[in-house]
Amino acid sequence: MEIISHAAEQYAKVHSSPTNELLQEIHDFTLQHHAEPHMLSGPVQGKMLSLISRMIKPKRILEIGTFTGYSTLCLVEGLPSDGILHTIELRETDAATAQRFFDRSPFKNKIKLHLGDAHQILQEIDEDWELVFVDAEKTGYIKYFDTLIEKVKPGTFLIFDNVFFHGEVLNEKIKGKSGNAIAAFNDHIKNSNKIDHVMLTVRDGISIMQKK
Ligand SMILES: C[S@@+](CC[C@H](N)C(=O)[O-])C[C@H]1O[C@@H](n2cnc3c(N)ncnc32)[C@H](O)[C@@H]1O
Repeated sequence: MEIISHAAEQYAKVHSSPTNELLQEIHDFTLQHHAEPHMLSGPVQGKMLSLISRMIKPKRILEIGTFTGYSTLCLVEGLPSDGILHTIELRETDAATAQRFFDRSPFKNKIKLHLGDAHQILQEIDEDWELVFVDAEKTGYIKYFDTLIEKVKPGTFLIFDNVFFHGEVLNEKIKGKSGNAIAAFNDHIKNSNKIDHVMLTVRDGISIMQKK
């Protein structure tokens, strides 16, 4: 289901600042060579992530779901000089693709890419996250939220992508395990008293929250 009209998406894209050359290359490469190009954040959401990161200036960023590295290279823009971004990717091929792009970025020394299951790796990294972007398997969202909300300090910002799950959550009868998982996640965070939260109608829906 198309949630935001294609015309509105295009208008927003044309009236936003252009992306840099490396991001454009990742975008084009992913569209041409990846079997699931729709997973990419894209220019409007990517620019939003860059600007949010630049507003917060977080010393430690966590990203769950690297894919081909597009959102990583948007989020990294807000790090101060001593900042580090950790990003976690399950699939070896995607991690290798992302690393090749990271190696060409001026931010390459600020990005630490972890290969493996984020649920496991999260137990192994001990950092004071100030900004978290969750964009991995939708069936894991409640677990990611429950784990992270206990770990992070009050004031930390967390962003969860695809909270409309291609519009599936708007249907009376939701199909598929990911759609159902996202609907359950949306109810879960709506009922949480641990966060202040807004759901935005950007692209496939994005939830931004701050731990109280
Ligand atoms: C929607 S894509 C991420 C898109 C990327 N953040 C962007 O905006 O360009 C989701 C990624 O999460 C990865 N993933 C799925 N389950 C995971 C897990 N348990 N741990 C780490 N990564 C996972 C997938 O392999 C996939 O590359």
